[in-house]
Amino acid sequence: MRKLNIAIVGLGNIGSYLFNYLNINRKILTDKNNCLPIIKYVSAKNKNKKRSIKIKKSQWVNNYLEITKLKNVDLIVELIGGSEGPAKKLVFNALKNKKHVVTANKALIAKYGDQLAQIAEKNRVNLEFEASVCGGVPIIRSLKEGLIANKISKIYGIFNGTSNYILSSMDNQKKNFDEVLYLAKKLGYAESNPSADINGDDVSSKLKILSSLCFNSFLNNNIYVEGIKDIDKTDIDNANKLGFKIKLLGFAELLNNKIYQRVHPTLIKKESYVASIDGVLNAVIVDGKPVGQSTIQGEGAGPEATTSALVSDISSVLRGNVKFPFSISSKKRKKLIFEKIDERFFSAYLRFEVIDKPGVLSNITNIFSKYNVSIKRLVQNPDKNKKSSSIIIISHNSKNKYLNKIIKEISKKNYVKRKPKMIRIDSN
Ligand SMILES: NC(=O)c1ccc[n+]([C@@H]2O[C@H](COP(=O)([O-])OP(=O)(O)OC[C@H]3O[C@@H](n4cnc5c(N)ncnc54)[C@H](OP(=O)(O)O)[C@@H]3O)[C@@H](O)[C@H]2O)c1
Repeated sequence: MRKLNIAIVGLGNIGSYLFNYLNINRKILTDKNNCLPIIKYVSAKNKNKKRSIKIKKSQWVNNYLEITKLKNVDLIVELIGGSEGPAKKLVFNALKNKKHVVTANKALIAKYGDQLAQIAEKNRVNLEFEASVCGGVPIIRSLKEGLIANKISKIYGIFNGTSNYILSSMDNQKKNFDEVLYLAKKLGYAESNPSADINGDDVSSKLKILSSLCFNSFLNNNIYVEGIKDIDKTDIDNANKLGFKIKLLGFAELLNNKIYQRVHPTLIKKESYVASIDGVLNAVIVDGKPVGQSTIQGEGAGPEATTSALVSDISSVLRGNVKFPFSISSKKRKKLIFEKIDERFFSAYLRFEVIDKPGVLSNITNIFSKYNVSIKRLVQNPDKNKKSSSIIIISHNSKNKYLNKIIKEISKKNYVKRKPKMIRIDSN
């Protein structure tokens, strides 16, 4: 029976769950992969920390970097996290020393994935990162294997469970942003510092990885990113009245041979599939030819879902064969043009909180005409007591740069009570 010696570095939430899983499921994994997985070594930062797992003395290695030099290690599972520091050192050294690597670290792959893939290819070892994108949703292996026949034109969806939980709870429980964020932290859905989830950076890292897999390109930082912190209860209520839900979506799409990557809150029709994905779930939708549209949905984070993805990667290594980390050889990956979204057309929801006085509405609509942006729908909600009015405009399809110019010009008017808002509408 073939054997594969594994070292797990990082024994936190994910590492300790994986450690137990591999011990409990060694037989079935051996039967399925025709190769015996052995946890030869483990390492973490603090040797004396109390852990929920039973580590044999012979398994513990004090200096995690030593593991990359040990002859009897075939595969290193990196579960430290972060794009720099120990995780980066570990993965670079492991690949240089011809060890296979499995990692759940999206920050590292989104930043150094191209360099790491080149080293892995040169040294004929695997670099697998299924768990780095959308936890238990097997989107990377689907793109690399199940959907290999297809020319992908678009990938989009909900890639961050925390922000989806916040937006759907604001809607379902009629609570404001801060109340829901507090609850999300209490329930363990949001970290104590949830900024990367809320400002769109987490989705951006995942989207970069997915888009390079879809379009056979190198990782590209030309990506528009906007988070959810400015969405309030009024926007959610307005969206509902207009027949929409608000979701934080990531999109990578090929339009006229140009690629657009964008992450922003999006109004989507209530009856659409994505609108029905609530709570911490993730959903990924792929448009490809000849397959058409494929959808995968599931738990985006947590030890269980992440371990499911890690074991898929470990099994791939157990079965043998060296694969290209990004599905295609680094020599064949393309340097495509990634466009800014300025020239892309969107229909949008624009909200203006203004002083309720004559002439304001006509001034606003004149500014729309100035930039040739036509209005599809206009709703005005006056508040007599506050002498203010909320004006909601749904625009027809217009270039992003003109929509931005409208926002910028109207922001400067003295009748404006708070910063105007724009939320793009998904046309699907
Ligand atoms: N949590 C999730 O739901 C989730 C989902 C998908 C992907 N991921 C990714 O999975 C990875 C691990 O996440 P996690 O939630 O398990 O993190 P975690 O609970 O914070 O665990 C991190 C582990 O890394 C170890 N570590 C830190 N610095 C180290 C160093 N200098 N040398 C050696 N070990 C060091 C820590 O050691 P000590 O135990 O000794 O402190 C700890 O065991 C991250 O890349 C994360 O993005 C997590």
